[in-house]
Amino acid sequence: MTIIPDRVRAVAMPPIDALNTAMTRMNAEGGDVISLGQSVPFFEPPPQMLDAVREALDSFGPRLHTYGPDAGIPELRYALARKLREFNRVSFDPDTQLLVTPGSNQAFMVVMTTILEPGDEVAIASPYYFNHHMAIELSGGTVVEIPLSEEDGFQMRMEDVEAVLTERTKAVVIVSPNNPTGTVYRPEEIAVITRELSERGIYVISDDAYEVFCYDGARHTTVAGVAGGGDNIITLGSLSKTFGMTGWRIGYIAADSELCRQALKVQDAMAICAPIISQVAATAALDQMPEYPLSMIAELDQRRRILEGALDKMPAFHWKKTDGALFAMVRADVVGGERELAWKLLEEAQVLTVPGSAFGRQWEGFVRISYGCSPRDRYEEALSRLVEYFGPL
Ligand SMILES: Cc1ncc(COP(=O)(O)O)c(C=O)c1O
Repeated sequence: MTIIPDRVRAVAMPPIDALNTAMTRMNAEGGDVISLGQSVPFFEPPPQMLDAVREALDSFGPRLHTYGPDAGIPELRYALARKLREFNRVSFDPDTQLLVTPGSNQAFMVVMTTILEPGDEVAIASPYYFNHHMAIELSGGTVVEIPLSEEDGFQMRMEDVEAVLTERTKAVVIVSPNNPTGTVYRPEEIAVITRELSERGIYVISDDAYEVFCYDGARHTTVAGVAGGGDNIITLGSLSKTFGMTGWRIGYIAADSELCRQALKVQDAMAICAPIISQVAATAALDQMPEYPLSMIAELDQRRRILEGALDKMPAFHWKKTDGALFAMVRADVVGGERELAWKLLEEAQVLTVPGSAFGRQWEGFVRISYGCSPRDRYEEALSRLVEYFGPL
């Protein structure tokens, strides 16, 4: 008899999958479910990217159809180095310090497999991005949660981090703007955390998936650019949300050259390389950085304000407005358990949200609402349904 080890068995099933499957089934049966669930922006990739892909099908030659370098095609690595230099103001050598991955989730998994010894601890803020939780456990690491508080707008401070550090702490993960809370961490706190951890030789892993999505004057801090930071900083980037290209699966690791050299083995074993056509697409998309994603910010900011207005009409919902990413982590004073709530909303209001428990057991009283994913009219329709469902009688 074969036995699946606890390391895998104990990991929770991907939480959004079941809700998405239910939504697809309901819609196939004539339902009209609107998604406020996915962390996918409403916009499509830049037209220049799609043109470049069409052209590459004719002109890129045999390179398109074969494996490429493990670290990514040079055109993309150089385009990423330029983006990091011009947008993030940090310098990485495209030949030794960058690794293109099939999405940044895989970048995280590659890093975990590269740096963890069994039982090493990785600290992540709670509420957390569940794929990080899964990847740490699947890699034989131990998740340590850094509990954050709603009253504080889910900000992370050095004292919160300090409270969970042990001799086994291998890495601390920073996600800002954050999934699921939308919080943009304060630059001065990120600087303190980065310097302290650098001094202690603990990896700081910065997941920058939402770096462009900041509102109300909030600014993303590039951890790799913090003065006093060391070679323990690992930057994970993604083109998925920035360019509306989640399906193309392109992310990257930017780090010290020795880390990248070792991580290359893991990447080779997992994927060899990211799909070449996607790398061509990503190279062309980066030509539109930052104008293209920044042209979407006003629309997203408006949606964020519309959400605030709608939540004000629902006394059962509480949200301390946050200023980044595509989400609100909303507390719901509703009896009957919150997992039930997300399912109830799906079945009775035909609106898909994500249960707070997906981001940590103690967040059961919350739901995550994405204001970024559906077309504007559908988004507004979904909020009207929620107001009708929950509004004052
Ligand atoms: C914080 C965070 N990191 C990474 C990812 C995954 O991005 P990618 O599509 O590059 O794998 C997501 C997707 O939701 C995310 O929320």
